[in-house]
Amino acid sequence: MKKTALITGATSGLGLALVKQLVRQNDIHFILPVRDMERGQRVTNSFSDAQKERVSLLEMDLSSLASVRTAADSLDSPIDIVMCNAGVQSATKTIYTQDKLERTFAVNHLAHFVLLQKIEHLITAEAIIGWVGSGTHHPELAKTFGFTGAHYRDPELLAKGMYESDSNTRQSSRDAYATSKGLNILMARYLSSRSSSRTYFSFDPGLMPGTGLIREGSTGLRLAWKYYLPVVAKFMKGTSTPKRSAAMLARILLKDKNIASGDYVEYTGHAREPFKPQDETSYCQRLYDYSAALL
Ligand SMILES: NC(=O)c1ccc[n+]([C@@H]2O[C@H](COP(=O)([O-])OP(=O)(O)OC[C@H]3O[C@@H](n4cnc5c(N)ncnc54)[C@H](OP(=O)(O)O)[C@@H]3O)[C@@H](O)[C@H]2O)c1
Repeated sequence: MKKTALITGATSGLGLALVKQLVRQNDIHFILPVRDMERGQRVTNSFSDAQKERVSLLEMDLSSLASVRTAADSLDSPIDIVMCNAGVQSATKTIYTQDKLERTFAVNHLAHFVLLQKIEHLITAEAIIGWVGSGTHHPELAKTFGFTGAHYRDPELLAKGMYESDSNTRQSSRDAYATSKGLNILMARYLSSRSSSRTYFSFDPGLMPGTGLIREGSTGLRLAWKYYLPVVAKFMKGTSTPKRSAAMLARILLKDKNIASGDYVEYTGHAREPFKPQDETSYCQRLYDYSAALL
């Protein structure tokens, strides 16, 4: 039976590698929300004529709530696979969207929340829905790279970009990114507890140097990320490549790799225990209510 997959962030890095893997499956139609239609078209152009026919681009800027709402409202057919993959990371300062929201909260968490709420009636009963998390959300695992893990503060403070560290510093940018990834993991767990037939999960792709994620970093960092780290990473624990991580993610989305709903799965295929707030259920309820109010 034909399936429809909606994947955000398919123009680069992990999302691009994922679509390249999945497009080989003749029974999947793709909806690819992209902020830059030309970039989206370049991705489509790299496919064969038969594959192109199964790809629909949808203009959607995840940093604008209005854009997400409008694009989501234009959808009208059932969706079986959703991958909330798009993500941003600020390098040195706190950045706000036109909606006056801290950007990583807005793009990585809220935009995907709004998108899912808007298309809730289209998502099939047996659908699989994933978010890309990150090891940076875990205080223990993230230390090596200068992250202090997710800060599960009141959602309103997160939306305003208010962290314990002074705002507008490299550290507050890292805190905001790590927290947004923690929220992705929590949302998968929370929504899984509300549905018995769908599969909700989050995915840790490992460190994948070379992707576009560090595009706002200093020149030195960007060069290291693009040329030095991909070589060194081969010998480092916890590192992967977009292709390798996408291969596991594709297996999960195709239900070729068994996972339990709510799982946080690493690129190796192993489920990991994420770092959670102390009272997870009530925190998630507050996050859900706050996000729904912004809908
Ligand atoms: N790279 C890593 O080491 C790593 C590790 C752990 C987790 N992750 C996560 O993996 C996911 C993919 O990241 P990546 O490393 O593949 O980075 P990437 O190469 O920069 O890809 C990010 C994707 O998100 C899209 N995007 C960003 N802002 C958007 C917006 N406002 N509206 C619509 N689309 C937007 C980008 O579109 P454009 O092409 O238009 O920019 C791009 O397609 C992210 O969620 C990231 O947090 C990455």
